Amino acid sequence: MATRRSRVPLQADFLVIGSGVAGLRAALELSRSGRVMVLTKGHPLQSSSIYAQGGVAVAMSEEDDVAIHFTDTIKAGHGLCRKEAVRMLVEEGPARIQELIRWGAKFDKIGGKLAFAREAAHSRSRILRARGDATGNEMVRVLIAEVNRQKQIQRLDHHFTVDLVVENGRCCGAAVLDEASGRQFVLPACAIVLTTGGAGQIYARTTNPPNATGDGVAMALRAGAVLQDMEFVQFHPTALYLPSSPSFLLSEAMRGEGAQLRNNKGALFMQRYHPMGALAPRDIVSRAILAEMAATKARHVYLDVTHLGTEFLKRRFPTIYATCLRYDIDITEEWIPVSPSAHYMMGGVWTDLNGATTVPGLFAAGEVACSGVHGANRLASNSLLEGLVFGARAAAAAVAFAEGQEISKLTAQDTALRAGPFGILEDEEKLRSSLRRTMWGQVGVIRSGESLVRACAQLSRWAQLVALPFATRAALEIKNMVQVAQCVAEAALWRENSVGAHYRSDCLEAKRAGWQQHSRLSSGDVVSGKAARQSRGSLLSLRGRLK
Ligand code: SIN
Repeated sequence: MATRRSRVPLQADFLVIGSGVAGLRAALELSRSGRVMVLTKGHPLQSSSIYAQGGVAVAMSEEDDVAIHFTDTIKAGHGLCRKEAVRMLVEEGPARIQELIRWGAKFDKIGGKLAFAREAAHSRSRILRARGDATGNEMVRVLIAEVNRQKQIQRLDHHFTVDLVVENGRCCGAAVLDEASGRQFVLPACAIVLTTGGAGQIYARTTNPPNATGDGVAMALRAGAVLQDMEFVQFHPTALYLPSSPSFLLSEAMRGEGAQLRNNKGALFMQRYHPMGALAPRDIVSRAILAEMAATKARHVYLDVTHLGTEFLKRRFPTIYATCLRYDIDITEEWIPVSPSAHYMMGGVWTDLNGATTVPGLFAAGEVACSGVHGANRLASNSLLEGLVFGARAAAAAVAFAEGQEISKLTAQDTALRAGPFGILEDEEKLRSSLRRTMWGQVGVIRSGESLVRACAQLSRWAQLVALPFATRAALEIKNMVQVAQCVAEAALWRENSVGAHYRSDCLEAKRAGWQQHSRLSSGDVVSGKAARQSRGSLLSLRGRLK
C-alpha cells in the first residue's frame, strides 16, 4: 500500500509508531484533536494483529456478563493482573466492538445473531470471530479503511523508528529510517503513542510475524521508560511443526471445537495432565506437550481434527485449512504435527491506566505495553480487545498531555543523527539465529536458574551492540532483539517462583514470599546485568514498586 499524500510536509502533532489494532485505533482517536502521523516499518498489513485467528473476547452474548469476563481474566492472570485495568477492558470492550461494527466490521453470525465461540479458560462462549479464523485481518481492514478516510491522518509506511527523542525529560519526537532510501531523520511531535506489538522473534519458534522484534520495548527502555513483567511470555501450545514451514498458529478455537492432542504413538494424553483436557490453560498444555515429546523422543505431537468433518473444517477454519494444504497437510484427513511456540508478551513498557509511560510525552498500548490486564498469563483472545480499549485510552491521554505543548524544533538531533559513523554488524544472520536459539533453549517454556544464568551470560556478550548506531533496519532490529532478550532473561532469573506462563523447574512453588511483586527494569539494570546479580538469594530485589 503506497504512502498517502506523500507530498504533504512531514509534520504532525502526534506520532503513532506501529499500525496494528492498537495503533490504528489510537490514530483515529488522536485525529479528532490534531494531525497524526502513523509510522509503520515495512508494510502496514504485516502486524501481529493481522494474524490473530481465534478472535476477540467480549462480554456481549446473552449468557455472558462483564463481571464474568472480569473474573475469568483475573483467574488467568494468576493474581498478578491490575484489577482496575481489567475492569476497564471488560467494561469498555463492548462499546469498542459496537463502534467497530458501525465502521463496517463483519463478525460471523449464526441465525442472524453474532456467533460466540468458546476458548480455553473462558467460562462462557464470548469469542467473536470473522471469516472463521481471520478475525484480526477483518479488524485491521476496517480500521485502516477508517484511518484512510481521515484527512488529519498521514501514513508513513516502510519507515522504521530507530529511537525516541527525549529532550529535557520529555519525549518529543522520533528518529526514523526511510527503509527505501536509507535516510535517517527526526520527526518532532507533541506526544508519541507506541504501539509496535510484541517480540516473538527473539525465540527460534514463534507464531509472530518476522517483524515482531520488540522494537518498541527496546526504544522505550533506551528512552528511560520502565518495563514490567518481562519474564511473562506466553507460549502457544499448537503451532505447526514442519522443518520447512514457519510456526504457523493452529488456533485454540480448534480445540474449542473438539480438536484432540495425540502423542507420537497416537495416544490421547491431555486428560492425564488436567481435568479440562485439551482445553486446559495454555501453559499447562504447552508443558504437557513437551513432556510427551520427551517421553516419546519426538519433536512434536499431533493435533487431530479429522473427526470434525470436512465441510465444517473448511467453513470454520478456512485460513488454517488452506495454509496447511500449502505445506501438503490435509487437515481433514491427517493429524497435524504441532509443538509450542512463543506467542505473546504479557510484559512490556509499564503504563498507567491511561497508557502513560514513565517518560512524559510517551504513551503505549497493545502488546508493547504492560497495562496490567494480563498479569502472569493472558486469557485467550483478550489482546485484540485490549488493543481497541487501551489504544483509545492512550490516545485520549496523549491529547490531554499535548494541550499547551509546543512542537520542539529538534534540529540539533537531526544533524547529529545524520553524522554517523554507523556501526557494521558482522554476520547478522548468525547472530540473529544464535540469539533466537539461546532464548528458545534457555529461556523457553521451562526455565531454570542454571539455564537463565547461561542465557544472561551469553546475551551480555552481545550487549555492546546496544550502544552502537546502525544504518540498516536488519541491524537495528537485531540490536533491539538483544536488548529485549536480555530483559526477558534477567526478569526470568529474578523471579524465583513458578506462576502463570513463567515456569522455573528449580522453583516450582507458586506463592513464596513476595510472589505478588512485579519485576521492573530500566536501562541501567539491564546493561549492567544488575537484575541477574541481585536476584541470587532474594525474590524481591529487582526494583521497588512504582507509586
Ligand atoms: C488462538 O487463536 O489460539 C490465539 C488467540 C489468542 O492468542 O488470543
